[in-house]
Amino acid sequence: MTSFAEEFNAQPLRTRIVGRTIHFLDTVPSTNDAAWDRAKAGDDEGTVVFAEEQTRGRGRLGRTWWSPRGKGLWLSVLLRPADREGAVPATTIIGALAAAEAIRAETRLRALIRWPNDILVDDLKVGGILVEARAGRRELVLGIGIDVGSWQGSRVPKDVAVVATNLSDAADTPVDRAAFARALLRRLDRWHAVQLDRDYESINQKWKELSATLGRQITLEENGRTFEGTVIDVDVRFGLAMRLPRGAIRQFRAEHLTILRHE
Ligand code: BTN
Repeated sequence: MTSFAEEFNAQPLRTRIVGRTIHFLDTVPSTNDAAWDRAKAGDDEGTVVFAEEQTRGRGRLGRTWWSPRGKGLWLSVLLRPADREGAVPATTIIGALAAAEAIRAETRLRALIRWPNDILVDDLKVGGILVEARAGRRELVLGIGIDVGSWQGSRVPKDVAVVATNLSDAADTPVDRAAFARALLRRLDRWHAVQLDRDYESINQKWKELSATLGRQITLEENGRTFEGTVIDVDVRFGLAMRLPRGAIRQFRAEHLTILRHE
């Protein structure tokens, strides 16, 4: 049987930075931890770590991320963004843009981005982004998890099955993991170059096009206070703008808000 690494390497990647070095691992606790190990070892920016399976995959807000063997793409990328200020939200968005665009290009599915890091198809989650920074280190680790392979015949945890799906079942046809992974890294390489150029307008424009949050009614929490309203703008540097019930407009910084409900 051909391995994922052989299938991935069957065609040239042709990226500038993302994927210059790639580690194909089998079972790891989390590819984000494996990428931090590569950072400590002094690996180059753009180093990618793929794993077939994660035993302690993590999501945002301390959640666990179900990462069954050979089904999804579990990967992390080592990056050194130009601007440290706001780098975590910006890197989250470029990861989400690359994932949503790759899904649209490789399947007919209309992937959208739900603030700040969920990749949706038909309102079900097909992937997520987890960017991590560590005190005293200049790098960021961009973790991407995409459910690619069919779950038919798999034991899917109940809490996952009610909110999520995978590309193959959603598209009703098998989606090739290796081809999808190449498409994802190519797009990420392009968005990373846009981020390095500080071209935030291009990022905002594409994000608005692919946002599942813009125009929607949401409930969010900021510093212990809850707000309800309609999202009227998303901006990689300035966060989210919301129209409150009495008509006032309020801006929320990405780092300080948590969405509680998204209609
Ligand atoms: C989320 O939606 O909460 C983010 C999920 C991120 C999952 C990916 S899988 C690869 C990388 N390694 C991890 O432990 N998490 C990320």
